[in-house]
Amino acid sequence: MKLLKTLVVLALLGMVMAAAVIWSGVYHVGADDPHWSATYRVLEVARQRSIAVRAADIEVPDLSDAELIRSGAGNYSAMCVTCHLSPDAAETELSIGLYPRPPRWDALGQTDPAEAFWVLKHGIKASGMPAWGKSMDDRYLWGMVAFMQQFPGMTAAQYSAQVSASDGHSHGGGETDVGGGDPHAGHDGANAERSSFEPVDDPMATPSGEEHSDDGHDH
Ligand code: HEC
Repeated sequence: MKLLKTLVVLALLGMVMAAAVIWSGVYHVGADDPHWSATYRVLEVARQRSIAVRAADIEVPDLSDAELIRSGAGNYSAMCVTCHLSPDAAETELSIGLYPRPPRWDALGQTDPAEAFWVLKHGIKASGMPAWGKSMDDRYLWGMVAFMQQFPGMTAAQYSAQVSASDGHSHGGGETDVGGGDPHAGHDGANAERSSFEPVDDPMATPSGEEHSDDGHDH
């Protein structure tokens, strides 16, 4: 009984101390202040396990399908390059400023397809990696996974050829309600629920296009 009492008191004390540490503000939430390496490793293992367990049952379609790769090229170029870069893109403010740093395109090419699909669909909490599944149909996500599989050894020329072959940017090919797989379907004013990925020419632009600031992007 005495032991139990001591344990309860210790647990309460621990909670009070944890609350005091949190309340003191001593924990640095800044993205320019890296985690301690031990914390980083714990988070990394938690991330890897969480993804691996959830991706285990995902059935991977035929990723060598040319049409799938083609649609993925346009969408990747429109939506992912700002963070993950590409064979023909240099570092950006987002790729440098985010923490954790977004893996570069060549690293994405090494990712297990089922896991890449899961991450693409669900995103990763508190990392900047969005849950694209909230607005994109699975087939478009698989398209990007298929395209990423082509990354190892891809040159800048090959990359831009693939993107050009995909009608350039994909113009919101990600709406969940598009019909017939036409990447341009739903790309008109009548579709109020259109993708929030436009305008694709400027991935940094305000997604809805409604709150565009005309500040000229000065530094
Ligand atoms: C705003 C920045 C941002 C954008 C845009 C973005 N990502 Fe990410 N992505 C990240 C970050 C940051 C991580 C790393 C998260 C982590 O390690 O916890 C990540 C992780 C990933 C991973 C997991 C890689 C691995 O090795 O586990 C994949 C796959 C991925 N992104 C693909 C994409 C694709 C495809 C797109 C475009 C549809 C995209 N991302 C758009 C920031 C972004």
